[in-house]
Amino acid sequence: MGPLHAKFANRGRRKSTSVSTGVVAEETWSIPRDRAPTAPSQTRHYEPPAATPETWPCKPSVANPIVKAMFDFVPRSSAEVAFSKGDRLEILLKCGEDWWRAYHLGTKETGYIPKSYVASASSLESQEVADLHIAAQIQYPARRTEPVINDLTPDSGWEISPHTLQLGHQLGEGSFGEVWYGTWNNVVPVAIKRLRSGSMTREQFLDEAAIMKTLRHKHILALHAVCSLQEPILIVTEYMPYGALLDVLRGATYPMTSKIYMATQVADGMLYLEGKQLIHRDLAARNVLVGESLICKISDFGLARLLQSDEYDITSDQRFPVKWTAPEAFLKNCFSIKSDVWSFGILMMEIVTDGAIPYPGMTKRQVMDEVPYGYRMKKPPNCPEPFYEIAFSCWTHNMDDRPSFDHIYDALYNFSVYSERSYDVQ
Ligand SMILES: Nc1ncnc2c1ncn2[C@@H]1O[C@H](COP(=O)(O)OP(=O)(O)OP(=O)(O)O)[C@@H](O)[C@H]1O
Ligand SMILES: [Mg+2]
Repeated sequence: MGPLHAKFANRGRRKSTSVSTGVVAEETWSIPRDRAPTAPSQTRHYEPPAATPETWPCKPSVANPIVKAMFDFVPRSSAEVAFSKGDRLEILLKCGEDWWRAYHLGTKETGYIPKSYVASASSLESQEVADLHIAAQIQYPARRTEPVINDLTPDSGWEISPHTLQLGHQLGEGSFGEVWYGTWNNVVPVAIKRLRSGSMTREQFLDEAAIMKTLRHKHILALHAVCSLQEPILIVTEYMPYGALLDVLRGATYPMTSKIYMATQVADGMLYLEGKQLIHRDLAARNVLVGESLICKISDFGLARLLQSDEYDITSDQRFPVKWTAPEAFLKNCFSIKSDVWSFGILMMEIVTDGAIPYPGMTKRQVMDEVPYGYRMKKPPNCPEPFYEIAFSCWTHNMDDRPSFDHIYDALYNFSVYSERSYDVQ
């Protein structure tokens, strides 16, 4: 169990990188070894080879790397190049985080391509082997889904005009405001969160959004763009067709295999945040969203902090999720990655109980009165003992003694590999 970073316990405002609002400048590609092209959904057990030239010429040349398309790509503008799975492209330039300028070796067209749709032949092969290995281990039909392109275009920046969005139907409403389904440029499906006016200042929001924008992980919801120049501020994210994990859990009964798979994915996303020394503050099944093949992505990272000013009185706010919150957080407002670990334990109970409200039969007040003195949620019926043990360890009173997400991920992963089969066979 790793020591708690002093930084986690500090609830002062984090410094963020400056907010980019303009055009993404093209730069000649000089690649550090650790940034070589990689397949989009790597597992942590696989490192792609990183042998690439230091600088690639900007026009077709034998020295440029060749990549192979893993998915079909339909361009959204004339600046982008169409390709089909299996096509070969030559990479010319790096243009921001998500896009490359490329030359199509078949159609001879030059333009932008989303880099997560292609892979070097060697990394593609290794990824396929890794995917098959994991799917076999956890006995889950892991299908490779189309990757997400975080930046909507190579040159849009991430402050976009609200006129490029077409509003569809309302998906739901939470503490921050309404969430709508929509499209960007009539093509890309997106979710649009309209932040309730006055819930936070534009500066506060942009500070936090700048951090959110740097996050790229297969289990963290992609933030595509913001419209922050008017009220209400709009946050444009990846659209997740199956909605909140809480509703998914309540809508059907899943086998234990799938439940472990859900928990492992959330732990994987939290492990990524932990590595970046970031805190979620509102981890719960309502803030995990579900896509194809039961893929789970953590959403609403960091937003909770903005609702909680220094004068914010947790105990008097009806909306405050007491049952998910560690005692040091609801008593002393001390949020850290270790209070996220506590919430993760509660989220595991939501998963195993098909989305039941935690601490059945207890009021929020009772939880606030009893949990700081050692009361813990009981093991729900049908919950495998080792699964409950992992959750229980997340509720250790001394936060330094709670496991890290690294540890939790490994425990769940090993659990999924070695123990869970028997639970579904019963
Ligand atoms: N990216 C998305 N894709 C699809 N549905 C979404 C997306 N984001 C939110 N939703 C839907 O909108 C609902 C409301 O989300 P919202 O984040 O505003 O509130 P919440 O998660 O229920 O509570 P909280 O205020 O704690 O975040 C969700 O329950 C979900 O059904
Ligand atoms: Mg939410």
